Amino acid sequence: MCGIVGYIGKNKAQPVLIEGLKRLEYRGYDSAGISILEKSKVKHFRALGRVSNLESKIGEKIFDGRVGIAHTRWATHGKPSVVNAHPHASCDKSIFVVHNGIIENYLELRSGLKKKRHVFKSETDTEVVAHLIEEKQKKQKDLFNSVKSALADLRGAYGIAVIDKKFPDEIIVARKGSPLLFGVGKDEFIISSDASAILGHTNKIVYLNDGELAKITRDDYRVFSLESGYVNKKTTKVNWSQDGAQKDGFAHYMLKEIYEQPQAIANSLQGRVNHFIDEGLVRPTLGGLAPNRDIENHIKKIERLVIVSCGTSYYAGLVAEYMIEECAGIPVEVETASEFRYRKPILNSKTAVLAISQSGETADTLEAIREAKLKGALTLGVVNVVGSTIARETDAGVYNHAGPEIGVASTKAFTSQLVVLLLIALSLGRQRDMSFIDGKEVATELKRIPQLIEAILGQDKEIKKIVSKYSKYKNWLCLGRKYNFPIALEGALKIKEISYVHAEGYAAGEMKHGPIAMIDKNFPSLFIVPKDSVYEKVISGMEEIKARGGKVLAIATEGDSLISKIADDVIYIPKTLEMLTPLLAVIPLQLFAYHLGVSLGYDVDKPRNLAKSVTVE
Ligand code: AGP
Repeated sequence: MCGIVGYIGKNKAQPVLIEGLKRLEYRGYDSAGISILEKSKVKHFRALGRVSNLESKIGEKIFDGRVGIAHTRWATHGKPSVVNAHPHASCDKSIFVVHNGIIENYLELRSGLKKKRHVFKSETDTEVVAHLIEEKQKKQKDLFNSVKSALADLRGAYGIAVIDKKFPDEIIVARKGSPLLFGVGKDEFIISSDASAILGHTNKIVYLNDGELAKITRDDYRVFSLESGYVNKKTTKVNWSQDGAQKDGFAHYMLKEIYEQPQAIANSLQGRVNHFIDEGLVRPTLGGLAPNRDIENHIKKIERLVIVSCGTSYYAGLVAEYMIEECAGIPVEVETASEFRYRKPILNSKTAVLAISQSGETADTLEAIREAKLKGALTLGVVNVVGSTIARETDAGVYNHAGPEIGVASTKAFTSQLVVLLLIALSLGRQRDMSFIDGKEVATELKRIPQLIEAILGQDKEIKKIVSKYSKYKNWLCLGRKYNFPIALEGALKIKEISYVHAEGYAAGEMKHGPIAMIDKNFPSLFIVPKDSVYEKVISGMEEIKARGGKVLAIATEGDSLISKIADDVIYIPKTLEMLTPLLAVIPLQLFAYHLGVSLGYDVDKPRNLAKSVTVE
């Protein structure tokens, strides 16, 4: 997820673009760049890291140009660097493009354009778009139709803005899968990935829909649909404060990111399962696990997997243990990274060590990977921040593509980690005894998860009401079995880090071996009890708690009429495959912790004593 800004109008573009980039920086801060049209020349600047680096690169001068585009990057393809920073240019340096999204077929387009003597400078998928427009212009002549024709060849997601010094009085923008909108001001138009870069100028906004593009000139705009031509697009009046917009109207980044999970999971699945499901490809497409033939073959032969991670990522590893053993029959051990490197782990070339990390910078996990490398193990990674150290130091790996996670409490990164780990389990399984039918059934159900999560998010108000009923309690026991034992641990962690209330996650079967001693009417329990293979076992645990006068809040499967007779309160989740229930059961827990933290008046985005990325041991 990157940030795009564009400007055309009566004022100097540079200050508006820089201000806009700063507003969008939370969307990604791997690099920044700007291109301003000035007297048929293009002033083009790019810098690594924050927007402030770009400002120092430009210096004091303010260009007079009234048309320009700019970008702040969240790297997906190609590591953070100046050469991979946007805007990207065509060979003749007349066409400049900024892009948010992923062009899935960029490799095949790239090799086609190379045959037509286009020279590529970066590793990005985006640069293909600039060269493709240049190629189309040989026939189309004008910019609008060249862009339109280029879009027809693109597969994947994009929000783009394009300028061309041959056409200095227009900007072409287009959207498919990634947000893009523009503000209609007095003699000016401001283009952006979200309203936060626009609301300082106007609150009259045109939202592009998927498959739409627009030609914006100094005094007018015209929107077209790729399929059906001209669209009479009206503006929408937006009454948000600029800060509010950055949170898309949500009160906190944490809540916004909880609501972003359907999209984040769709992003994690993009380009990875369709071929497997629709075209009968042997297994999900995880290019990052096949950087070369040697590693691909090495992964085929591994006989043991050790997962190293911390915090919420550690709990994702615990869920993956069940998934990978079930799908691939490979023994899995999950280690807290901070312990792993100080133990004497037995590793050999038949063992792979998999690091899971949202930030890719957690020192404990990084050091665990370095220890594994030292001992000759193959190292793999599941990481959200592209180009981060763990991503660079592991031999191979898969990116989540969940987008930047700003709330310190990990939410969408966790569920997208579970999705990627399940794709890895399916991929390893298909390389071993898992049948195509079984694999396809799981992958097909996985594609339904985003809409099932939407359904749970629809219960947010009810969950908030339940929280107000339980906000006086100072202790919680969170309990689950099998796939949902780690989710009980994750739920307890969310309650702890967001509301500072003591919560203990426990395997439901272990409860009677000690923790039940704590139970009384002031010590409620939260049970994760979907209709799965261990349902009856969890129910008996609930009855043991009720027998001691304990209060029970349950997360159960829709249509389960028995549960409401035992539990004091129930939050229902849709029915799905047992292996996928963790992806649904965690959502009410995230919302529960969020509303509890807010009801107790805490800053849920920046909880005390915590940091988003723990880069110290
Ligand atoms: C989770 O909400 C916390 N932010 C923390 O436990 C986190 O999961 C842990 O620090 C690991 O971070 P990583 O995924 O970036 O490596």
